Amino acid sequence: MADNYLGKKMEDLASRKKVVRAKSNVKSLDTLLLRNRSCRGWDPSVKVTEEDLRKIVAVNTMIPSAKNQQVLRFKFLTGKKASDFCKFIKLGALLPELTLPPKGMEPSAFIIICSTIAENKWVDMDLGIAAQSMLLKAVEMGYAGICIGAFNKAEAQKLVPEGLEPVLVIALGKSAEKYQILHIAEDENHNYFRENGIHYIPKVRIEDLIID
Ligand SMILES: Cc1cc2nc3c(=O)[nH]c(=O)nc-3n(C[C@H](O)[C@H](O)[C@H](O)COP(=O)(O)O)c2cc1C
Repeated sequence: MADNYLGKKMEDLASRKKVVRAKSNVKSLDTLLLRNRSCRGWDPSVKVTEEDLRKIVAVNTMIPSAKNQQVLRFKFLTGKKASDFCKFIKLGALLPELTLPPKGMEPSAFIIICSTIAENKWVDMDLGIAAQSMLLKAVEMGYAGICIGAFNKAEAQKLVPEGLEPVLVIALGKSAEKYQILHIAEDENHNYFRENGIHYIPKVRIEDLIID
């Protein structure tokens, strides 16, 4: 009887321990959002695999969609296909003095997001939700990415089946950059900039976001 009591107690403790351990591995949403900075330089020694990309795209089976139409489709580029695609993207339009990504620090993978219908307001809303959800998943997995609107659509079109329209590209890899958010008033300069190896991103402060 006493043995049984002790046994149960041990089991109970062990299971509670497990819960605590599981919780401590979970990153809060704020942590993921803060880490999810647009990356423009990646560690060449770390490669994002097709299996990783599948996990990242799997978030799309769990997110909202206007009228639940789910018109977005996802093409993976890794290895040589990813390196060949690098010349068709433009990064850091506000930092024209820099070559981004720096040579040798290109992303190891891309996801070309396509739509099965012509782009419209609802497709674009779905697109934003999908892109941010995938980036957050990538951050949770230890990677960093960026949305790329400035890509060569004609070249992306060649890589996907007919009938699909490339609407956004996501570049992924392991970040080699340092970032810092700066809280600003709404009338201050919004341009991101670099100083002493740190990429600063101004974000409008909460007081100026809320409408009185
Ligand atoms: C829809 C969309 C398209 C973007 N396209 C580009 C792009 O083509 N090139 C680029 O360098 N950054 C691009 N960005 C990244 C923005 O410049 C970035 O989000 C902004 O500077 C704020 O930085 P943060 O993402 O770290 O908060 C894009 C972001 C979004 C949401």
